[in-house]
Amino acid sequence: MTPTRRDALKLAGLAGLGAGLPRGLFAAEEIPELAAQVARLQLLPDSYPQTEVWGYGGTIPGREIRVGQGQRLRRRFVNDLPQASSIHWHGIRIDNAMDGVSGLTQDAVAPGGTFDYDFVTPDAGTYWYHAHNRSWEQVARGLHGPLIVEEAGAPDVDREEVLVLDDWLLNPETGQIDDSFDHPMMMSHGGRTGNYVTTNGRYNLSLPVRRHERLRLRLINASNARIFPLKLSGLEGWIVALDGMPLATPAPVEHVLVLGPAQRTDLIVDVLAEEGETADLVHVGDAENFSQVVFTVSGTASQTRRAAPVALPPNPKMDLPDLAGATPLRLVMSGGAMGRMDSAILNGERMAFRELAAAGRFWAFNGVAEMTDTPLADLGLGETVLLEIVNDTVFPHAMHLHGMHFREVSEDGALGPLRDTILVGGRETREIAFTVDNPGDWLFHCHMLGHAASGMTTWVRVT
Ligand code: C2O
Ligand code: CU
Repeated sequence: MTPTRRDALKLAGLAGLGAGLPRGLFAAEEIPELAAQVARLQLLPDSYPQTEVWGYGGTIPGREIRVGQGQRLRRRFVNDLPQASSIHWHGIRIDNAMDGVSGLTQDAVAPGGTFDYDFVTPDAGTYWYHAHNRSWEQVARGLHGPLIVEEAGAPDVDREEVLVLDDWLLNPETGQIDDSFDHPMMMSHGGRTGNYVTTNGRYNLSLPVRRHERLRLRLINASNARIFPLKLSGLEGWIVALDGMPLATPAPVEHVLVLGPAQRTDLIVDVLAEEGETADLVHVGDAENFSQVVFTVSGTASQTRRAAPVALPPNPKMDLPDLAGATPLRLVMSGGAMGRMDSAILNGERMAFRELAAAGRFWAFNGVAEMTDTPLADLGLGETVLLEIVNDTVFPHAMHLHGMHFREVSEDGALGPLRDTILVGGRETREIAFTVDNPGDWLFHCHMLGHAASGMTTWVRVT
């Protein structure tokens, strides 16, 4: 590799400044780099051309980051892209200044620039990091990677696999990423879904396993808008965590498991298929199913089945919110194709749907099609929020709250597991509750990223 100008500067800096400085200060400069780069990779099968992607560390998915729970994570983001960018650490209950939202918690880092991220990871679990400037373009170009926070007292499994599920909209002739990111058709419908589905950057990923082997699978949906309905074949599985947060009791996987954009599911699976056979993580399609991941079985890990797995150790601050006296909030989502939104506010003025569409806005939250200067709600630490989400559109939306996890409140008042992203079906109303415990300005948006860009973004302020 030829040294870049930055390497040269760094070397010069080390040579010039390092000498004579107290050791602590010198060590403070040693922050690992995470560079966003343009790279050409063989994403499609070998007979196709290479694809130009944008990747962290030049790989697809981005380089895995793994830390222990409660540890400090530091990365110097280096922007080697032709576009400004920033990194969001999705699902981490993070210090607000490190949340990586361009235009809200920091300025986007210009091409050639750097930004030092430095934060503590309070919760163990499966998280991910991704670009948060023009994310509907940058994430589609490949800017995302797994962020794994390991618990002390790992579960008793033979091994684990991190599986990043994604899709790509590629031109099959040229092999290049379709760059119609702002196409009204994608923005106003279900979002940008690809024509090439991958796991860890591979179509039809195949992994060798042994019969009766026990694996932990960390599933991450890193796609722009695809909902992955999945089921197990030749495997018996239990859900042990959702969006990073452990379930109190492992839940057997009985039917289809739905993974919305940005959601994660941790599974513990036992290989039941016989030697010489295959087991599959099956992608359930409208017309036909296909194998998302193929597990080829050879050898035997043990002669007998094991007992069902036990729960993962709980994370701190998983207490149930106290709904008595909770602050009620309401978010009505409207717009989209086949919707009934006739007008909404843009640039502070009411505009007809046609004008909004011409300005690239197809959706609104509470009648507003833009991110406003004033938050959806001004909240105080310790407050409990009960938020009703009314989906008055025909499309599903994956609503993500930054900085805090929430629980779904079902109609009978029962509280669901902690999550950071909830998939709300077309014309559905759901209710979530959370205890306000993290100060700062937190984005709340649809993780169908084209939707977020065309009206479905708001925020809350916690003081
Ligand atoms: Cu994973 Cu605001 O995003
Ligand atoms: Cu949406």
